[in-house]
Amino acid sequence: MISKAFTARAHTNIALIKYWGKKDQQLIIPMNNSLSLTLDHFYTDTTVYFDSSLKHDVFYLNDEEQDASKISRFMDLVRAQAELKTFAHIESVNHVPTTAGLASSASAYAALALAASKAAGMQLARQDLSRLARRGSGSASRSVYGGFVEWKRGNDDLSSFAVPIEENTDWNICMIAVVIDKNRKKISSRVGMQRVVETSPFYPAWIKSSEHDLATIKKAIKERNLKKVGAIAEENAMKMHALNMSASPHFSYFEPATIEVLHLVELLRSEGICCYYTLDAGPNVKILCSAEDSEQILKRLAVKFDKKQLLVAHPGPGVELISKK
Ligand code: DP6
Repeated sequence: MISKAFTARAHTNIALIKYWGKKDQQLIIPMNNSLSLTLDHFYTDTTVYFDSSLKHDVFYLNDEEQDASKISRFMDLVRAQAELKTFAHIESVNHVPTTAGLASSASAYAALALAASKAAGMQLARQDLSRLARRGSGSASRSVYGGFVEWKRGNDDLSSFAVPIEENTDWNICMIAVVIDKNRKKISSRVGMQRVVETSPFYPAWIKSSEHDLATIKKAIKERNLKKVGAIAEENAMKMHALNMSASPHFSYFEPATIEVLHLVELLRSEGICCYYTLDAGPNVKILCSAEDSEQILKRLAVKFDKKQLLVAHPGPGVELISKK
């Protein structure tokens, strides 16, 4: 018996207020609320069907068979919810530079949550889809929605999920990703954030200030104030990276080229161009700016970086089912 196959497409998101630390590692309950922008350019397509002839789950990523043990633990959650015993065939195509700090796990688990739950015969409400995606990777809870999204930390499995802030934003903003290193990151976000929670003396201050950052950025988003949104996001990202440097043993995702980009953005700003940076668990820099200024910023980046390293994205949609080509 083979179930109907479903294909879902989910876009990645970039956090403007970062999720960095878990209260519950197994359930993936975060320490603080976070807020992100879902992007249009980077996405994952995932197809799932259940097949009673399979002895275990099989997983293909970009046409190559992978070890399915991690994904199987996620599929066990789907099977438990759907009261199903059958194994699944899972096929993903990533349109995101994998593990380059462009948060491919966010789009991956959001797409998998929708495709797998549908193939298992479930019709989950978006809140429950967000909760399920969260169990794969925390940031995936936010990729269920488009535009600006807040992940409300909650305090247990039922109360921790994302909500849309402005799902179909018509704000003409842009995110330029400067890809500095495509290789696997030195320390995964999972390991990095846990080390910070356990060892950084500044962690309590992070919780307090990210609450304040969240409240002020939400107001600035409503006011369409790019200068304020950018400044808050940039400061919040730097606080997250300062936590890493204050952990024991300390670590950093910055590469020399990362710092070069940060300096260039600061220089552009001093020349009157409204642009701000943010970074996740990797050396790549994302620059938030208005769509009108993006050409000018790209030109300046192109002096130091190859065109292939510069990717431009805009606000994107939430997870959806698509028909497979
Ligand atoms: C720096 O969602 O990848 O991108 O829940 O352990 O899978 P796990 O972590 P993950 O962490 C993302 C961290 C971040 C900030 C953010 O996206 O909020």
